[in-house]
Amino acid sequence: MTQTRKRATSLEEFRALPRMGTDEGKAAWQSFQPRPTDVIITPYGKSGTTWLQQIVHGLRTRGDLDFDDISRVVPWLETAYDLGLDLNAAQKAEPRAFKSHLNWHDIPKGARYLVSIRNPKDVLVSGYRFMEGWWFEPGTIAMDEWARASFMNPEEGQGYWVHLLSWWEQRERADVLLLSYEEMKRDLPGTIRRVADFIGIQLDNELLHIVTHQSSFAFMLAHKDKFDDKLMRERSEKVAGLPTGSDSAKVRKGEVGEHRQELSAEIIAGLDAIWQREITPRLGFPHYEDLAAALSWDGER
Ligand code: A3P
Repeated sequence: MTQTRKRATSLEEFRALPRMGTDEGKAAWQSFQPRPTDVIITPYGKSGTTWLQQIVHGLRTRGDLDFDDISRVVPWLETAYDLGLDLNAAQKAEPRAFKSHLNWHDIPKGARYLVSIRNPKDVLVSGYRFMEGWWFEPGTIAMDEWARASFMNPEEGQGYWVHLLSWWEQRERADVLLLSYEEMKRDLPGTIRRVADFIGIQLDNELLHIVTHQSSFAFMLAHKDKFDDKLMRERSEKVAGLPTGSDSAKVRKGEVGEHRQELSAEIIAGLDAIWQREITPRLGFPHYEDLAAALSWDGER
């Protein structure tokens, strides 16, 4: 008997869908021993991960586009084993680069770490829109319900806050580069200069031009099929029994502040209260924007 493939139509159904990660896959990334030259790109999901994968891969190859899935050439630590990718293999170019979403506590140590952070309200909206129409039917789970179950859930919603605090504490290390998504949007060439310097790539004007062009939002949107984690999507669809071939593109709108149109006043107030409880007492910043401003190089000579 063939089972009908279907998306969740409630939060309960969404939670119950099987996920692709296996114990062996977890053991593989946990025991991975990076080289000191390796670069692990490890933002919280929906904070600029794919964008940084494209920037790093463009820098190290002078603009190679001969790949079907950016996560085949810059493998994702947490999914590689389950997708049949060998984390220890040589890559198309040096330095080797990897994607991850792990926080500092969990990440395999010994590499260099590239992390972008993003306004949690925009991350929330981006994550919702990403899963809608792929894991759940559009219109069946409301944005507010999603927010309460994720970022605002004291039991399950710790991920973003723990990730942010963990990387903020490491930001002065020589092997960590912490950027903000908002600053990357404000100054892409400046971002590329910093990333090149951090990963040890000599930048000339031509290379800067190539990478700026190929990591622009318009370019990545035009080639969004290369940036949809196809390998992971196909595997997830199989394991979870989801309809095949949904849009899982990691390039969607790329805006700063979309949450103002998308989140209710109640959810915005709830997220502000969590920020003031979790982040302000530890880091001193009253709002996300104050923290992001501390990472800005605007005005530097
Ligand atoms: P939106 O959903 O708000 O549009 P990740 O790769 O960590 O999952 O992040 C995905 C987010 O980064 C999406 O945000 C996507 O549009 C945005 N993004 C991807 N490439 C981008 C680019 N070149 N410029 C700006 N934003 C980009």
